[in-house]
Amino acid sequence: MRAITKAVIALALLAGPADAQARPDPMRDASLQAGTISQTDPMVALRAPTEAAPDGPAANAELGGLPDAPGAEETYYQCVACHSTDIIKQQRITDARWDELWQWMVEEQGMFEPDPETRDVILAYLKTQFSSER
Ligand code: HEC
Repeated sequence: MRAITKAVIALALLAGPADAQARPDPMRDASLQAGTISQTDPMVALRAPTEAAPDGPAANAELGGLPDAPGAEETYYQCVACHSTDIIKQQRITDARWDELWQWMVEEQGMFEPDPETRDVILAYLKTQFSSER
């Protein structure tokens, strides 16, 4: 009698998990399945928005979603001291306007002026990625 009870329990234990694996639970949150990002993941809010021009370089989440191209890192560290990258990413302006904005940021906003080489790298990046001319 005891042996039979044990055998029944053992069978139930064996059958249970195997059965659960065979049939996917329709109530399981689809976002928790492999390959997708959960909307309820608390770390999602800390990730920068990653929208980028469809034909441009991919957005780099670690650099505020700036397109990943030479100069992105320099631009990020120069500019996020005062505001987010969103204000940059929404621009589509001329080269001349970028030069003006740089001057304005330095003269009126007190932006730290880096060495000329770094300035050229950043301005070239801005004029390439956020341009109304190309
Ligand atoms: C010392 C602070 C400071 C730094 C550093 C700085 N900015 Fe700004 N920036 C400002 C302020 C202040 C504004 C005005 C914000 C507002 O209007 O709400 C502004 C506005 C802007 C605007 C919007 C201009 C417009 O027409 O409305 C752009 C674009 C911009 N910044 C780009 C940059 C870029 C690119 C860098 C890095 C090269 C940078 N900023 C670095 C202070 C700064």
